[in-house]
Amino acid sequence: MSDTHTSCITTPCNDTPSNAAATTVNGAASTLGLGTRLAHLGRRPHEHHGFVNTPIHRGSTVLFKTFDELEAAYRVDSRTGRFIYGLMGNPNSRDLEVTLAQLDSGVGAVAVGSGLAAVSIPMLAFLSCGDHLLMTDSCYGPTRHLASTILARMGVEVTYYDPRIGAEIDALIRPNTRVVFMESPGSLTFEIQNVPAIARVCRARGVTSIIDNTWATPLYFRPIEHGVDVVVHALTKYQSGNGDILLGGIVARDEISWKRVKDTAEAHGHYAHPDDCMQCLRGLRSLEVRMARHSASALEIARWLEARPEVARVLHPALPSHPDHQLWKRDFTGASGVFGCTLKPHASGRAHVKTFLESLQFFGMGFSWGGFESLVVASDVRSMRVAAPWNDPNPLLRFQIGLEEPRDLMADMAQAFALANAVER
Ligand SMILES: Cc1ncc(COP(=O)(O)O)c(C=O)c1O
Repeated sequence: MSDTHTSCITTPCNDTPSNAAATTVNGAASTLGLGTRLAHLGRRPHEHHGFVNTPIHRGSTVLFKTFDELEAAYRVDSRTGRFIYGLMGNPNSRDLEVTLAQLDSGVGAVAVGSGLAAVSIPMLAFLSCGDHLLMTDSCYGPTRHLASTILARMGVEVTYYDPRIGAEIDALIRPNTRVVFMESPGSLTFEIQNVPAIARVCRARGVTSIIDNTWATPLYFRPIEHGVDVVVHALTKYQSGNGDILLGGIVARDEISWKRVKDTAEAHGHYAHPDDCMQCLRGLRSLEVRMARHSASALEIARWLEARPEVARVLHPALPSHPDHQLWKRDFTGASGVFGCTLKPHASGRAHVKTFLESLQFFGMGFSWGGFESLVVASDVRSMRVAAPWNDPNPLLRFQIGLEEPRDLMADMAQAFALANAVER
């Protein structure tokens, strides 16, 4: 079946950095800079009267002109062939999937309705009743919830492991271990995992490795190039970049993994709305410049917080004080704008934290991150952890540093600390 949808961009391939020239953008090799690729991937203006972005294709039914076409539809590769039915893909989701696959050096991607769906689909694709899952103890809360509830109910045994385990994960692998799930840095606590070492063990033991790479994005870490099989992104965050859509993406290293993920998403009726796919692609165009700003501002503020008398510890992997700084330096090419800190105990206890958070003018108090606005949340992970206990009783905060001027954010934090410090017991 003819394919007019890949005229600008070659079929994604799992190149390593050394042979990346096989991937092309408008005929040029993928040694092109990321900014260039982000500006040109997933676009076919001359198939749309020259309009720079693919128009939104809403719809369920897709018509066939002939019976031959209808019959052939059952054999189509949804990455390149004609469109069959809205649930299986549309021009907007395909543009996004092509872009995601190329950015992550995968063979294909699947766009779905949320980051959490991007976590659950590969789990359901690679795990069956009687299988064993190794899950990092530092995972995103709802990922833990999925593992401890739905997967456990399905008959999947779950063992949480210390995120800093590295190659020693080998000792935890059982004959029925099918998946090792990673997230680096860990949600809220920011441990960096030795991803290449874990992926190497998985490969040697025939176990599928999956990673939630939402924090770094493909700009700052490309797990497939470090040996991982499946990469998960909450596109809700940096890729879309405006805090106003929910979307997820899954990228697979090889054909078998891609097919399993795609089949599982389809079998569950998962779908990515074309408007959201288009919004996400618009966000991706400016990802590199936004991330540079998030990254620089976050590091500046993290350093400033390290010197504040109210702060006990700053949890930012790009700081030399972070216990995994060397690992981060080895594997990552940058740090995003999300980091944590713990506060020293204050006589007024909870009221100190409450006053600090409520006095901030420019930090929204709310979940998620990756948008233009700075955000803060406080959490307590102590009761969740089982393999790598988090015994620190100090209040744990997570900051998302937005696109505001860092000096305004630091002034905001300083005035909020002053008000909090004045709270009486
Ligand atoms: C690390 C991580 N993964 C996945 C998700 C889930 O993304 P979504 O909110 O799009 O479901 C989140 C959301 O906060 C997250 O922080």
